Amino acid sequence: MFDKNMFKGRAIFLTGGGTGLGRSMALHFASLGARVFIAGRREEPLKEVCAEIQGAGGEAAYFTCDVRDYAAVEAAADKAYAQFGAIDTLVNNAAGNFIARTEKLSANAFNTVIGIVLNGSFHCTQAFGKRWIAEKSGGNILNIVTTYASTNAGSAFVVPSACAKAGVLAMTTSLAVEWAKYRIRINAIAPGPFPTEGAWSRLMASKQFEEHAKEKNPMKRFGRHEELTSLAVFLLSDMAEYINGECVVIDGAQWLRGAGEFNDLLMLPDSVWEQMEAARAKKS
Ligand code: HXC
Ligand code: NAP
Repeated sequence: MFDKNMFKGRAIFLTGGGTGLGRSMALHFASLGARVFIAGRREEPLKEVCAEIQGAGGEAAYFTCDVRDYAAVEAAADKAYAQFGAIDTLVNNAAGNFIARTEKLSANAFNTVIGIVLNGSFHCTQAFGKRWIAEKSGGNILNIVTTYASTNAGSAFVVPSACAKAGVLAMTTSLAVEWAKYRIRINAIAPGPFPTEGAWSRLMASKQFEEHAKEKNPMKRFGRHEELTSLAVFLLSDMAEYINGECVVIDGAQWLRGAGEFNDLLMLPDSVWEQMEAARAKKS
């Protein structure tokens, strides 16, 4: 669907690019000609992704940094500019999350997730936004949030993440208005469940819960990475120039399934529907 040179000339800074969906986005962006700069705390996965991109003839570099630390983010931004001359796109993908009963959470547990997701996304946005405004270059930001933030529904047992992602979404809509005059576009993607080691190991409480989550999805499956990365490519491309401040849900209608009052009627077998329909037909 996409021209293989569509990201030629682009330079993308992506947090959490060593694993999971971040890795998949980095590979897809690079396959379309983008130069990709990835950041995260652990060197090994970042190095591996860069080697994979370079092995396929692409350009990639990395820097280890903790997005909770603004000075470290500034240093990573400097490094990315030194590497590629400039950066035109930021993807705030790094996140921390776990399931816990909220009354058992320590203050540090709450602050840890807020620090990575909300403060981290702000730090990167600020670091690149300031540069783009000073250079008058414009820019493009994509934030990866979650359906439980984008629907205002929240979610039990992931309260720090729900609060943090809701904050990132508020930053998305706020800055879309404030920074449009600088030609900085900012959008979000709200994924439903996409299998990754990071999310699955922390959030899928059991095999049974995983099966339940899949069964509950109207499409009876989880997301495929290329489905999310293709959406990211589109939103970051020139084809989406007029989309600003938007959050696109990609979840197979999972959250809608939970929202409708009568959705649980999905449990009714056809035979019961047929009985009800026959009874109504007899009456009329
Ligand atoms: C309760 C927990 C906890 C848990 C950690 N803590 N895990 N509390 N239940 N399961 C507490 C610790 O006790 C500590 O508090 C505080 O949190 C910080 O923990 P550390 O281990 O010191 O933090 P750190 O090493 O910085 O690691 C951060 C992390 C970790 C968030 C805890 O899980 C991580 O590195 N995650 C990164 C990757 C990730 O989470 N990926 C999933 C993204 S999926 P005290 O008080 O003891 O000091 C996603 C959306 C999925 O976001 C949507 C649905 C599918
Ligand atoms: P993941 O593989 O665990 O990705 C998280 C990444 O963030 C890791 O590469 C991690 O690398 C990095 N990271 C964490 N803390 C960091 C910090 N303090 N500083 C810098 N980097 C940090 O999980 P994923 O499933 O791919 O998640 C990617 C994004 O999708 C997240 O925003 C997540 O909330 C969102 N999402 C995922 C799902 C899903 O079903 N998978 C659903 C909804 C939303 P290091 O540990 O090396 O730092």
